[in-house]
Amino acid sequence: MFPRNILLLVAVSCASFRALFAANPCLNGPPVPKNAVECCATPSLVEPSAFMACHSKWISQTKRQMTIEGVPRGCCVAECVMNSTNLYADGKIDRAALTQLYLGSVASMAPEWKQITLDAIDGCFKMADAAKDEIEAGAKLTPAFDGEQICHPISGTILACMGMTLFGACPAELFTVNDDCTKLKSYHSKCPFL
Ligand SMILES: *[C@@H]1O[C@H](CO)[C@@H](O)[C@H](O)[C@H]1NC(C)=O
Repeated sequence: MFPRNILLLVAVSCASFRALFAANPCLNGPPVPKNAVECCATPSLVEPSAFMACHSKWISQTKRQMTIEGVPRGCCVAECVMNSTNLYADGKIDRAALTQLYLGSVASMAPEWKQITLDAIDGCFKMADAAKDEIEAGAKLTPAFDGEQICHPISGTILACMGMTLFGACPAELFTVNDDCTKLKSYHSKCPFL
């Protein structure tokens, strides 16, 4: 029912990721109404059901947060996903455990994905490290509306980066070639999965 790489969708909900795309050419969304998984199925961190549970719990708060200007707010959908696998604690993601989970997903996929995934993890953790001042600032925000839960931006940053990077690195022979997929690939080379 749900695409295996539904985690790509996590960026929909993640205000935190917008920060990394300051001059935002992405706000209008993808140019074609096509699901990325139909173009390329990428490795995923958790089962779709685990993602959906977090999505239903947090998406309304997240949508509301996305209308707030200023320092990007952390994505509770992503933090919830990380929590569901015990990957997140005290502002940090357990990189070794995250790597193991991705490698578990990769095991049943084409062999090329292994190195691609390891490289993506490396790149995303470096990117998050480079953005650490803004990420820390997001973690220190106080609620802007009654009942807002502040989540640490690290989870959304890493998950959104992984989604984009893996999709962008899809091996040519695993990528469905058609006009829509080509357009989607070009769009997602600049824009997260909104
Ligand atoms: C994730 O777990 C931490 C405790 O480690 C908790 O403070 C935080 O509220 C949890 N986040 C979500 C979105 O459930």
